[in-house]
Amino acid sequence: MKKRRVAILISGRGSNMTALIEAATAADYPAEIVLVISNVASAPGLAFAAKASIETLTIESKSFGKDREAFERKLNDTLLAKNIELVCLAGFMRLLTPWFVQQWQGKMLNIHPALLPAYKGLHTHERALADGAKTHGATVHFVVPEMDSGPIVLQGEVPVMAGDTPDTLAKRVLAVEHRIYPEALRLVASGKVDVASAPT
Ligand code: GAR
Repeated sequence: MKKRRVAILISGRGSNMTALIEAATAADYPAEIVLVISNVASAPGLAFAAKASIETLTIESKSFGKDREAFERKLNDTLLAKNIELVCLAGFMRLLTPWFVQQWQGKMLNIHPALLPAYKGLHTHERALADGAKTHGATVHFVVPEMDSGPIVLQGEVPVMAGDTPDTLAKRVLAVEHRIYPEALRLVASGKVDVASAPT
């Protein structure tokens, strides 16, 4: 089996990145994590990746100021230079331009902490609680130019419990994220799911 070469993009803690790295250590996993890139130099996730002997890079979006495209050209050049085949956004808190998204169309996944199309954007747990939602969850989807949209690879649902706070709910959702992201990457890397076959 030829493993697909994957880069993970992070901005912070990197717990989803960790789940992907750990899953990819299995001999039969169809992807290898060859590169972790952070757009924030202080992202705690970088240390874990380095400890797992994965190449890490920081491309600080801050230093490019408002020039989004210059940042993305650097990112894109780096991914191409490393022969990356699939990109996983894992808590990468930066909007990508249609140009970059197009370069990686059908080859870039994102995880979002809500049952899309519900609660796109930030503060998903707070908003689900404020609405009195009975269920909540997480979604892995292909990235398209419109934020938190695109064909869905997998979703995982959790109940909202009486007395939940944004933190307790986030914790329950995060456990699901750590299960579905590795599963979703397995499906895509093995060719069982592609952007055309996933439901929008
Ligand atoms: C995760 O809950 C992820 O779903 C969310 O940020 C967190 C990152 O945690 N992503 C988004 O909100 C993207 N819109 P992690 O760094 O521990 O994986």
